[in-house]
Amino acid sequence: MRRLRAGMVGGGAGANIGVAHRYAIRLDDRYELVAGVFGSEVEAASAFARGLGLDDERIYADYEQMAAAESERDDGVEIVVVATPNDSHYAIAKAFLVHGISVLCEKPLTTDSASSADLVRVADANGAVLAVAHVYSAYAMVRQAARMVRDGEIGRVRFIDVEHASGWASTLLESTGHKQATWRTDPDVGGKLSVVADLGTHAYHLARYITGLEAVSVSAELNTLVPGRRIVDNAMVQMRWAGAIPGRLWASMAAMGHSHGLRIRIFGDEGNVEWSHQDPDQLVVQDAECRTIILSQGVRSLVEDSNRLSRVGLGHAEGFIEAFANLYGDLADELVARREHRPNTGRELSFPTGVDGLKGLQFIEAVGASGDANGAWVNLVGSEREH
Ligand SMILES: NC(=O)c1ccc[n+]([C@@H]2O[C@H](COP(=O)([O-])OP(=O)(O)OC[C@H]3O[C@@H](n4cnc5c(N)ncnc54)[C@H](O)[C@@H]3O)[C@@H](O)[C@H]2O)c1
Repeated sequence: MRRLRAGMVGGGAGANIGVAHRYAIRLDDRYELVAGVFGSEVEAASAFARGLGLDDERIYADYEQMAAAESERDDGVEIVVVATPNDSHYAIAKAFLVHGISVLCEKPLTTDSASSADLVRVADANGAVLAVAHVYSAYAMVRQAARMVRDGEIGRVRFIDVEHASGWASTLLESTGHKQATWRTDPDVGGKLSVVADLGTHAYHLARYITGLEAVSVSAELNTLVPGRRIVDNAMVQMRWAGAIPGRLWASMAAMGHSHGLRIRIFGDEGNVEWSHQDPDQLVVQDAECRTIILSQGVRSLVEDSNRLSRVGLGHAEGFIEAFANLYGDLADELVARREHRPNTGRELSFPTGVDGLKGLQFIEAVGASGDANGAWVNLVGSEREH
């Protein structure tokens, strides 16, 4: 089958996440990287692109030039990866979507929900796919958890506990010239609620994805734990989910000693499930008698939603890059189906869409509004108060 033609904006030399996208694109060999702008400094970005083996005519000075030229070509890109800092996602993604070119955008989708909603609208209006890189939902054992919780295997959900509490910026890293810390702690680029945008939206999406539930309202306490920092670096969010289900979400970049810190526990009235990014190939399941079963990726009895994503045998850990490849695989199914004018697989559990990105932004804004109002309960946009 012909590979999908992909482009990339961002992710050049020294960039953090771009390389994971490039590995993931190649893992299942369903995409070919043919065009790009790998940074805002033209010469360095072009040299980087040549190093990747791109044709000179498809190495562009900026994303506007790329969108204009690629949309004119018969063999133009079908999907563009946006892996730049947050404040540029909207303009870059829109430049391609208006031409009907699909986009996989890094999270947070944009810097406010109005612009996210606009991207969702533009994608729909132009027949393009808009996907967001909430990659943790593509782990095989997260899919297993989602299937089990959605199918009622832990009974009715009673409590949702999720945290993405990382210690990566537990010191004033931005004062050392650290590239990623510099823009993430700049309120004008990463946003004042950068930690909620950066880590909180991953946790929020994971909880929505596994439970299939939507949140109704939040009560947030926002802190700056590292002296001298210009943004919030720790957010404690009490949550009310649909069906009057309580929960809590903790997002932190200052959880000293935590390397990554993504963990979720869902409690039902018959048992619970727990998944942690530190042990991504395992899902811990407990029943009402506290009997504990650890399900391992690769076991034949796992559900099809999980098994189809396991490319290593029992005993081998699923990795981050493989989860990206899973996301790209699901996205490829959608893109190829559209290219061939046929319906997609219709899977319930597939890639995060622009709507998921939009909900992330609405969540950020509700958290911000609640924090500004001393933790007052703030309803999420579109939610109906059920309790
Ligand atoms: N999904 C995940 O798990 C995950 C993990 C890390 C980062 N991210 C997200 O990825 C994005 C990038 O983060 P990062 O840590 O890789 O940042 P980074 O600073 O390491 O890299 C950003 C890259 O974008 C380039 N760039 C900036 N403006 C550009 C423009 N106008 N045109 C072309 N290139 C441009 C920079 O030169 C650099 O190569 C952010 O939105 C971040 O939130 C997601």
